[in-house]
Amino acid sequence: MATIEMNNIVKQYGDGFPAVNDISLDIADGELMILVGPSGCGKSTLLRMIVGLEDITSGDMVIGGTRVNDLAPRDRNLAMVFQNYALYPHLTVYENIAFPLRLSKEFSNDEIDRKVREASATLELDEHLSRKPANLSGGQRQRVAMGRAIVRDAQAFLFDEPLSNLDAKLRGQMRTEISRLQKKLGVTTVYVTHDQTEAMTLGDRVAVLKKGILQQVATPRELYEHPVNLFVAGFIGSPPMNMLPAKVNGDRLELPFGSVPMTSEVKAVLGDTELLIAGVRPEHFEDASLVDEAIKPHGVEFDADVDVVEWLGNEQYAYIPFEPPPEIAGQLADLQAETDSESLRTQIVVALDTASRIRDGESTRLFMDTRKMHLFVPETGENLAARVPA
Ligand SMILES: Nc1ncnc2c1ncn2[C@@H]1O[C@H](COP(=O)(O)OP(=O)(O)OP(=O)(O)O)[C@@H](O)[C@H]1O
Ligand SMILES: [Mg+2]
Repeated sequence: MATIEMNNIVKQYGDGFPAVNDISLDIADGELMILVGPSGCGKSTLLRMIVGLEDITSGDMVIGGTRVNDLAPRDRNLAMVFQNYALYPHLTVYENIAFPLRLSKEFSNDEIDRKVREASATLELDEHLSRKPANLSGGQRQRVAMGRAIVRDAQAFLFDEPLSNLDAKLRGQMRTEISRLQKKLGVTTVYVTHDQTEAMTLGDRVAVLKKGILQQVATPRELYEHPVNLFVAGFIGSPPMNMLPAKVNGDRLELPFGSVPMTSEVKAVLGDTELLIAGVRPEHFEDASLVDEAIKPHGVEFDADVDVVEWLGNEQYAYIPFEPPPEIAGQLADLQAETDSESLRTQIVVALDTASRIRDGESTRLFMDTRKMHLFVPETGENLAARVPA
């Protein structure tokens, strides 16, 4: 087990394009660090540089206190689990797990047997040891692949989207499984995914990447509540944060649904900015008829035409079509593209109490709590809160 330190890591492929651009990141001993970001942002490249499958253009990769830039993969003693974990179809589960040990020729049969049985007990594979991979479920195969990583007593585990081939239900189960196992073994782990739900539920900390550049490293809660910029705010959270124009007007901010007073902190750091992007999470809206009177002074009430209502039993979402003004339409379109967002039209998504009886196609009165509203500078995307001295 070991710490992983990355100092100013750069990767330029043949065409000079920096797939990873000056990333510095320290991973603590025993920590589970998630690398997340849209397709092509450099997650796999970074992981492959940790393992040694990809040359590092510049910067230092330090594992367990040793600079490993020039060490071959086998000398780094790391275990990697890929998306397409290849098990040997003609070998039993037992032999699949034992494979790396037999290959190394360092272990006696007794030692191998002890390690395989230890791993299989941890992974609850005991009753499957003599079966072939073809006769296992997807989740069981995944566990065999992990068993092969475990027996090696590696300094760290590296996962590259190991669950993306599984169906949604199994993915949920395996996610919990990996988290439990990682805590039990206490092995430093780096886990790559482009799925923000996986990132939020699995990691001790999450590193968000965009186009090879590290945006923010923080706990899931910190990322959700205090995103440093528009990109992180838009990428983390499902359904995503709603982005609305906010025009500065004296001491107030004009939102599409009414105006709210600006806090003194915001005023102090605003400078001469006249237009901001306000970010409001779906859960900070509510059916106005269900909002406690004591809460109402903390937000604005407005009428909205609800297009579609999705009732999911334990939650309920309403969609309100919304045309952003031309001044920020460009930034919002870019944001959608950058975050791999799937929505086809600009709309506001609001999460309503399941008691709400709002129906499709109705006009209704909604409440927006502005206390947790984020304000972003359109040109740079920075969160204004970052300017407020701590
Ligand atoms: N061998 C290569 N030669 C040149 N460019 C490459 C090579 N491998 C990757 N790239 C480029 O580097 C960038 C980062 O790729 P990488 O595979 O690390 O992305 P990723 O974040 O893992 O994406 P995904 O979620 O799709 O797996 C991409 O723009 C990609 O096109
Ligand atoms: Mg990848």
